[in-house]
Amino acid sequence: MSERILIVDDDIDSLKLIGLMLQRHGYEVFAANAGAQALTKAASDHPDMIILDVMMPDMDGYEVCRRLRANPSTRAIPIIMFTAKTLVDDKVAGFEAGADDYLTKPTHPAELASRVKAILARSANQRRPTPPKGITVGFVGVKGGVGTTTLALNTAASLLMAGENPVLADFRLGLGSMGLMLGLDQAAGMATILGKPTAEIQPATIEHELASHNSGLRGLFSSATPREALIKYPLESAVAVANSMRALGQPAVFDLGCGYNALLNRLQLEMDQLVLVLDPIQISLIMARELLRELEGTGTGAGRIHVVIINHVHSSAQIPWNEVEQFLGRELRAIISDARDLASQAARAAMPMVMLQPNAIVSNQITKLSEDLNIRIRAMASSQLMT
Ligand SMILES: Nc1ncnc2c1ncn2[C@@H]1O[C@H](COP(=O)(O)OP(=O)(O)OP(=O)(O)O)[C@@H](O)[C@H]1O
Ligand SMILES: [Mg+2]
Repeated sequence: MSERILIVDDDIDSLKLIGLMLQRHGYEVFAANAGAQALTKAASDHPDMIILDVMMPDMDGYEVCRRLRANPSTRAIPIIMFTAKTLVDDKVAGFEAGADDYLTKPTHPAELASRVKAILARSANQRRPTPPKGITVGFVGVKGGVGTTTLALNTAASLLMAGENPVLADFRLGLGSMGLMLGLDQAAGMATILGKPTAEIQPATIEHELASHNSGLRGLFSSATPREALIKYPLESAVAVANSMRALGQPAVFDLGCGYNALLNRLQLEMDQLVLVLDPIQISLIMARELLRELEGTGTGAGRIHVVIINHVHSSAQIPWNEVEQFLGRELRAIISDARDLASQAARAAMPMVMLQPNAIVSNQITKLSEDLNIRIRAMASSQLMT
């Protein structure tokens, strides 16, 4: 397939001449005769290269170049500035605007062809896939104490055991039970990071604050120090944490606590997958229905929300799973059995349940959930690679 080159010039004769020269070398050419048209065609037709005249009546070539560079969909297209100007200053301005090369008119056809060929070869070399953004998975409880943190932790542990490289983040300042479940009582990385100015919240700064469990499970944890809860930070800082975590593991798994609040309202927009956790009792069902309505109202990514029930006790108050599905109008992604003995054993051993007893019923259920989520995570990651 021949490379497609967009030629931008307000002078029709010049367009024809350059077009012919390039066609003779086997390139496919198309044209724009004004800056604005060039921007539209570049964005819609994705040329392999743009040859850009500097002096045009509506918008000069430097401005076109800057705008092409500012737009993510056209940012990577190589640009040769083509003009009658010969002053060094003009060349400098062209490179500053983001041009890859500069040619002066009139140009010998052979020189044009060799420059075009060289730039195209260079850009093909540089077109390595950009590293994909990590996928984020958030866990939210419809209310407190349903087992949200336990499920988030064990899902991450199960992904680690499957050979993935998850990283955890616990946003519950001063209520950080996740670190405690791993025996990392002193880990307070989240408070340290959220105490910093937003601009400093970056993958490199966060990496420094990650704590590690001896299983290899890593995370940015909150501690149980009540004063942590008093730390005031802008929501943008929480967003910066969420996005930085994407660079530190695949997937990034978040404990978002329970119930709706300003933090969840904002952070849920950053979650590629969202797991809603509840116990199957009447009150929780109503709370779940309302929370789902709220979360789905924002309409980001259909099918990203998964409902999981955790059966704490066997009692007559417990609603059968099929009735839960009916009430919520959706399938349950997982049903987790009551496992209080294993849960407390795991807490004492400072080890996730799935690692302590991989063959327990509850471990199998969580492993199945994590496999299911992982299929979606991998699909999302590979679709990022293709775009
Ligand atoms: N599958 C389970 N069966 C029985 N008990 C469980 C199960 N999972 C967790 N638990 C227990 O339930 C209690 C609450 O668990 P966890 O801290 O994970 O809940 P949470 O929803 O995150 O609570 P909080 O709202 O305080 O953050 C813990 O004592 C935990 O050991
Ligand atoms: Mg919790």
